[in-house]
Amino acid sequence: MDKPTPSGRPLREIFGEIAGSYERVNRVLTLGLDRGWRRRAARRAARGGGSRWLDVCSGTGEMARDLARLAPAGTEIAAVDFSLPMLARARTKPGLERTGFVLGDVKRLPFPDATFDLVTISFATRNINISRPILEATFREFLRVLRPGGRFVNLETSQPAVPVVRALFHAYVGILVRRVGWRMSGALAGYAYLASSIRAFYGPGELAGILLGAGFDEVAFERLFFGAAAIHVSRKR
Ligand SMILES: C[S@@+](CC[C@H](N)C(=O)[O-])C[C@H]1O[C@@H](n2cnc3c(N)ncnc32)[C@H](O)[C@@H]1O
Repeated sequence: MDKPTPSGRPLREIFGEIAGSYERVNRVLTLGLDRGWRRRAARRAARGGGSRWLDVCSGTGEMARDLARLAPAGTEIAAVDFSLPMLARARTKPGLERTGFVLGDVKRLPFPDATFDLVTISFATRNINISRPILEATFREFLRVLRPGGRFVNLETSQPAVPVVRALFHAYVGILVRRVGWRMSGALAGYAYLASSIRAFYGPGELAGILLGAGFDEVAFERLFFGAAAIHVSRKR
């Protein structure tokens, strides 16, 4: 099942439509901060080592590339996404020549149990949050493909803790994300969806609770840019 969007169009189709402008629009909307956030999450992720890493909802492969830069020789990296136009862009990215790309839905990963030492996701947890039970089930799917002791690193937009900052953040998202995204990409549905999903997403404590509920251990989070985004790191027992 695809996440319902305000336009009623399937999410996979929406991502296919914005693939060409996706990175450019992100740079503008986050004032360039998204690159540093991904790099920071990748550094946290790489710290734990291991020889098999998986980036889910990889899109144009920016997180996979940041991981590849940090990966010790011999590390195998796989990247999964259900949008062919997004993956097609990732495949041509310098630095990802040795990454294995897989077209698939992350709710049913095509890997045996306990395959990976690391699973990462960036700016896509909102998309798999079709409902809280489905998000939990998808986290359990990530848990399934992790080896015991393996880590899951989640980078996503979040909710600032201070009410006035949160109100300003929501106003920015409501006014600018929709309009600037639409103007730059020509895709109104995509950026209307983005704005609504950012405002409706969980705060960091609530997301930590969902990870614990799905069965992850040692869940810790770090707020970024006054809480506009957060990195959650968790572990499979
Ligand atoms: C906002 S983009 C994030 C891309 C990338 N991780 C980044 O940091 O820029 C979300 C990506 O998740 C993918 N996606 C959403 N739901 C998915 C699912 N259920 N299975 C596989 N990919 C999915 C979309 O196709 C899209 O490429």
